[in-house]
Amino acid sequence: MARLVAGVTTSHVPAIGAAIDLGKADTPYWQPLFKGYEPSKKWIAEQEPDVIILVYNDHASAFSLEIIPTFALGCAAEFPPADEGWGPRKVPVVKGHPELAWHIAQSVILDEFDLTIVNNMAVDHGLTVPLSLLFGQPQEWPCQVIPLAVNVVQYPPPTGNRCYNFGKAIRKAVDSFDKDLKVMIFGTGGMSHQLQGPRAGLINREWDTAFLNDLVKDPRKLAKMPHLEYVREAGSEGIELVMWLIMRGALDEKVREIYRFYHVPASNTAVGHIILENET
Ligand code: DHB
Ligand code: FE
Repeated sequence: MARLVAGVTTSHVPAIGAAIDLGKADTPYWQPLFKGYEPSKKWIAEQEPDVIILVYNDHASAFSLEIIPTFALGCAAEFPPADEGWGPRKVPVVKGHPELAWHIAQSVILDEFDLTIVNNMAVDHGLTVPLSLLFGQPQEWPCQVIPLAVNVVQYPPPTGNRCYNFGKAIRKAVDSFDKDLKVMIFGTGGMSHQLQGPRAGLINREWDTAFLNDLVKDPRKLAKMPHLEYVREAGSEGIELVMWLIMRGALDEKVREIYRFYHVPASNTAVGHIILENET
């Protein structure tokens, strides 16, 4: 059977991708950030997952205001990097896992989580930057990736509670997939960041730290947090953090914290990163 072994959260700041692509990772500004991901790269290389379910948000790259799916699951065999205005990132094409993706779609939809099935989708920095952070610059990504795009761009985003429960439905789907696969789930975006307006550049370290602590030990408390608290405390784009609750919902109630990293600054955001393993 498929086994969901671990969850990873990480920010997905586009400037991180640009720093890698333009060979600036060793500059004084970026070096401390990439150093913080060294243990994670080592960990995931040892783990060798077969498939990653990668929860991210599309930033008006594949979707627009014409169609706004709350949850969109990539069921295709391949997902090319999106052109976000400077040409597509020169990273490998993402290889999906259509069989597991369709199984997840069937399982969660029949469990009453309506999602949009996507068979053709380019993937933007929200998905490719986390892969770059964990895997560096390989010729091919070392595992298959199932993209799960969540709307956190256009009001109303899903509640944290819905995300948490959706994670549980995903876990049930993975657990019932009849193939021996090592699966991980990533939640991306965050942490505190506000990209525009008088509060642009807002960083709330104290709140971010409490969020990380609760993510590990008390995710049910986080699931009850209203949207307004995210926006007030973590900035307008801090709402991306609801996606981390999908990751957390898919893990066991009790998890082992393997690694944590928090870093400011990275563009306009606080970078937060955590690795959690299931105990079972
Ligand atoms: C930035 C961060 C994001 O998460 C994003 O999607 C776009 C921009 C930033 O800090 O610049
Ligand atoms: Fe983002």
